[in-house]
Amino acid sequence: MDKYTIFGNPIHHSLSPKIHKHFAKQTGHLISYEKVLAPLDDFEGYVKDFVISGGRGFNVTVPFKVEAYDLSNELTSHAKTAGAVNTVKVEDGRLFGHNTDGIGLVADLCENLGLAIKDKDILVLGAGGATKGILLPLLEQKPARILLANRTKSKALDLANSFSKFGKVCGFGLEQIKDKPVDIIINATSASLDGVMPDIPSGVANGAFCYDLMYGKKTPFMEWASSNGAIRVVDGLGMLVEQAASSFEFWRCEKPDTIDLLSSLKEIAD
Ligand code: ATR
Repeated sequence: MDKYTIFGNPIHHSLSPKIHKHFAKQTGHLISYEKVLAPLDDFEGYVKDFVISGGRGFNVTVPFKVEAYDLSNELTSHAKTAGAVNTVKVEDGRLFGHNTDGIGLVADLCENLGLAIKDKDILVLGAGGATKGILLPLLEQKPARILLANRTKSKALDLANSFSKFGKVCGFGLEQIKDKPVDIIINATSASLDGVMPDIPSGVANGAFCYDLMYGKKTPFMEWASSNGAIRVVDGLGMLVEQAASSFEFWRCEKPDTIDLLSSLKEIAD
């Protein structure tokens, strides 16, 4: 049985073992998948032990994605642009780092939710690690432009600058957001963790498709979007399932079906 795992700290909340066990059963692949709490100061040691024990691949979550990037022997283009790795394949002791977060977001938006991104105006809130992970896959869909707005304006400007070779992306401070509608708003800030909604004009949500990368409960961003005329408000559960499906495909060369799992997880969450 091929061995997979997810490393994180904390990790008890992770749905990944449940998701990957479902994919394995569905596709008939014989794999094990466990969650492991790696100590903050010895992620590398845990990875080495896992590889020595014959592990075939692993996922990485907070706070180890940049360390996983540094440990990888080779990186995919999505890992390189994200500057972070959430999926590693082990082959002959070498680590192949990939990032499926943004791929998962785009799959959820376009395939599950039926949203066309091409030629749309997208407002992305936040310019941290989460934003870095989603920009390339979003730009690959050829939106009209991505407006990248962040509390610390200089970070938005720097990030927009480094992604401008992939498409039209402009950086702003949150206070510069205009009070007029955009097509899609993606909340990639960690403000929801503090139970707050960034202070932005309400008119921007009118008629917009609003997506929060977080999942598990209705966030302040989702409440704000619902009460300001958003056409649809969605959390990041679909992105979680789709990034897992993309990791599974990276390891096993077979893309699992996500529809049934996603609807059963949504039922549990509702
Ligand atoms: P992650 O990996 O989740 O992206 P991060 O790299 O620490 O975490 O980035 C957090 C993002 O959320 C940043 O864009 C941060 O803004 P700053 O760059 O100004 O710090 C944003 N953020 C966090 N709390 C916020 C709040 N209360 N209001 C607005 N933006 C917030």
